[in-house]
Amino acid sequence: MPRYAYVNGRYVDHREAAVHIEDRGYQFSDGVYEVVTVKDGRLVDAKAHMDRLGRSLDELQIGWPVSRPVLEMIMAEMIRRNRLHDGLVYMQITRGVAPRNHAFPTGDVRPALVITTKKMNFAKMTKFTEGVSVITLPDQRWARRDIKTISLLPNCLNKQKATEAGCYEAFQVDPKDGMVTEGTASNAWIITEAGELVTRPATHRILNGITRLTILRIAEEEGVPFVERPFSVEEAKRAREAFVSSATSFVTPVVRIDGEPVGDGTVGPICRKLLAGYEEYAAGLRARGAEWPDDIPADEGDGTSRAA
Ligand SMILES: Cc1ncc(COP(=O)(O)O)c(C=O)c1O
Repeated sequence: MPRYAYVNGRYVDHREAAVHIEDRGYQFSDGVYEVVTVKDGRLVDAKAHMDRLGRSLDELQIGWPVSRPVLEMIMAEMIRRNRLHDGLVYMQITRGVAPRNHAFPTGDVRPALVITTKKMNFAKMTKFTEGVSVITLPDQRWARRDIKTISLLPNCLNKQKATEAGCYEAFQVDPKDGMVTEGTASNAWIITEAGELVTRPATHRILNGITRLTILRIAEEEGVPFVERPFSVEEAKRAREAFVSSATSFVTPVVRIDGEPVGDGTVGPICRKLLAGYEEYAAGLRARGAEWPDDIPADEGDGTSRAA
């Protein structure tokens, strides 16, 4: 059975799948994407991912290549064709194919849609039980990190540095104030010495992770006190626990930062509790997941961020 990819209206053999050389995604990174986890054949937090996709498209003035219900149908068909039980669905929408020119093309250019899937064995991943290391690196990205664009070069460069240092991720740090923004492909969290869960508020400075939103809900339900505020590298190094979150990292405990142990250097109880809650949620055993917000402010503002 071939592994299928979906490219602009056709289900094709993944090995043969291709887009045009003048696709603006290829030439300018002019596009957006989503990664949705599939657990037991079901999409996790599909609605919130589609809401975020819609916002990313709006922000870049790219139209839907197909209607939202049709896109959902294609995703389901890809899961069926590729017999995907556990893994992810990747979807990418670019502005389309047009003669190379920085300004948007005028006229009838159809946004291009590509969907692929990847099998993953979450149950076998040791990162959840053993934890991972991160290094801290300057965040070199642009001012609209809230848009999930395919323009990921600074993320790739920092992820490569982390990999070369033997680390799973990097905590990216705002060079202006020394505060952690997020990972290269994940959101960053700590549990402070006082036992409070902390993550940066969703503004233009980070990508508002769908997993992040679901974890905040689980923390609320589990009675874990949390606050959305920036934290520094020093505070992270003094923390009891730390973790990163993303659609495929769930809650991945961070046990070392820049080679220094976090807490006693082992996976802590709050990480375990939140991971168990998230796994339950992903398996369909908890009702409430992420809800996409109406508004994402440009900045942290006056510090009145959400807390519970
Ligand atoms: C920069 C960045 N931050 C955060 C996330 C986590 O987002 P989500 O939980 O929706 O996967 C990602 C995921 O790709 C990311 O690339």
